[in-house]
Amino acid sequence: MPLHLHSDPQLQQLLDEMPREGWERNYYAKLVTRHSTQLYADRVDMVQFVGEKKVLDVGCGFGQWAIELARRNRSVVGVDPNPLLIKAAKRLAELHEMENLAFCVDALPNLGFPDESFDLIWCWSVLMFVNRPAVLREFHRLLRPGGRFLAGAVNARGRWLYKTLQSLNPLNPRLFRLRRLRQCWATFRSGSDVEAVPNFTMRGASRALCETFGFELVAVDFDGHIDFTGENRRMPVFKPRFCFMENNIEFIGRKVRPADTTAAAAGASLHGTPENTSS
Ligand SMILES: C[S@@+](CC[C@H](N)C(=O)[O-])C[C@H]1O[C@@H](n2cnc3c(N)ncnc32)[C@H](O)[C@@H]1O
Repeated sequence: MPLHLHSDPQLQQLLDEMPREGWERNYYAKLVTRHSTQLYADRVDMVQFVGEKKVLDVGCGFGQWAIELARRNRSVVGVDPNPLLIKAAKRLAELHEMENLAFCVDALPNLGFPDESFDLIWCWSVLMFVNRPAVLREFHRLLRPGGRFLAGAVNARGRWLYKTLQSLNPLNPRLFRLRRLRQCWATFRSGSDVEAVPNFTMRGASRALCETFGFELVAVDFDGHIDFTGENRRMPVFKPRFCFMENNIEFIGRKVRPADTTAAAAGASLHGTPENTSS
């Protein structure tokens, strides 16, 4: 079943309120509705984010992952800094008759929840907008010992190359092209700096982030390729590679020890690890 963002008048109205030139309605709403709800359901099952008490979906957008997480866990809260997306997510949850699912406006890296509030954190396609060390520190604070997070990172090198080429397309609006090009240059200039925003997330960076902030790296692979069910399914939302370069990856960390809080240790670990080590 597809997500019916356009067939509900309330959702349609919210989409109409989103800025015309903004990516939410022109790009992201289309992306979300391109896939059936089954994809989101299967992906949550594949990584076994199931059977827990409290789950956070951070940067939840329209809340399509949160709905599937809520079907499989006791309670879920979705947060996003964009109030229009939060309104849309609430409406979608209402249409799906979800009662164990709440949404609120909030933004990384400092969320308004007490320490160790969650068993699982879902954070898909958000890492490129945030300072990753600060976010990993926050995940560590929010998760109970043994809790897991999943981070989907739509920003490996191939993705930025794709965006650069897209920004040169004369058919795109001029403002979009200029903004995009500036963003791509900023990213390429910052290279493998884990503290940069926007940023690359490669496999090496995911390992370094986990090690530094007290997580065991449970798995890292292309988006939609981690499957613990033994069925070896591959369900990417985006192409795994663009021009032979990694396009986007996802990784899962488990909180296993206190975060290394000394600046020197964090710096050594984060900056001393090669970016392109594979899993
Ligand atoms: C590409 S969308 C992905 C949304 C959703 N996770 C999904 O997979 O459909 C990125 C989301 O990150 C949110 N975001 C941006 N900055 C954020 C921040 N500092 N903290 C939390 N979410 C943020 C945006 O509002 C947007 O909803």
